[in-house]
Amino acid sequence: MALKIIVFLGSVRPGRNCTRVSNFMKKELEKRNHNVTIFDPLLMDFPLLKKPLHFHAPNETPPEWLVKYNSLIEKADAFVAISGEYNRCIPPAFANMLDHFPPKSFKCKPCSIVCYSAGPGGGSTAGMQLRYFLGELGMVTPGFMFTIPVVHEAHAEDGTPAPTNATAVSKANRVISELEWYAEALKTQTEKCGLP
Ligand SMILES: Cc1cc2nc3c(=O)[nH]c(=O)nc-3n(C[C@H](O)[C@H](O)[C@H](O)COP(=O)(O)O)c2cc1C
Repeated sequence: MALKIIVFLGSVRPGRNCTRVSNFMKKELEKRNHNVTIFDPLLMDFPLLKKPLHFHAPNETPPEWLVKYNSLIEKADAFVAISGEYNRCIPPAFANMLDHFPPKSFKCKPCSIVCYSAGPGGGSTAGMQLRYFLGELGMVTPGFMFTIPVVHEAHAEDGTPAPTNATAVSKANRVISELEWYAEALKTQTEKCGLP
């Protein structure tokens, strides 16, 4: 089943490494015929959160861009969170972007976690926090968390894994297989019973 998948990024730094990982994951997802949209807080120029979409009163008109991005989230079947680790936490640009949207737009859809860092930990501390954060927004996080240590050496800028990074493709495929499984299961149940 070809899925509509949104990939969330969480860095706006000059020289950021998130695009090494998103270029790689996008290619692997597309090899399996999925339609990928990248939510990039830099290219989409997300402002610091002033008012989430769902905090607008019925007589207020929310910004057009916010409504458009929310509609993409509502139409998505599944998500991939690609996140670095800032001071053992989720990067602020990641949380800031997702905080704009109502939990019901994400509800009962899967979100796989792919995290990375410049050091040996692979961003796993931020990855664990992402389970809480994404869960609070109503998403389900499959069990396998793909962690990428020393990310700037693990992937070239276009995403190509370094020759020393022999397990990258098999780990990406494990992420994608779990994501596909959960997307289909959750979609079937939602169609049968509606959302809880
Ligand atoms: C503000 C800041 C805090 C960081 N804190 C951590 C950290 O807690 N653990 C870690 O392994 N790396 C940390 N790093 C290094 C990041 O893992 C590395 O810079 C990574 O590439 C960040 O993602 P980005 O390049 O997409 O912004 C930190 C980097 C920044 C800019």
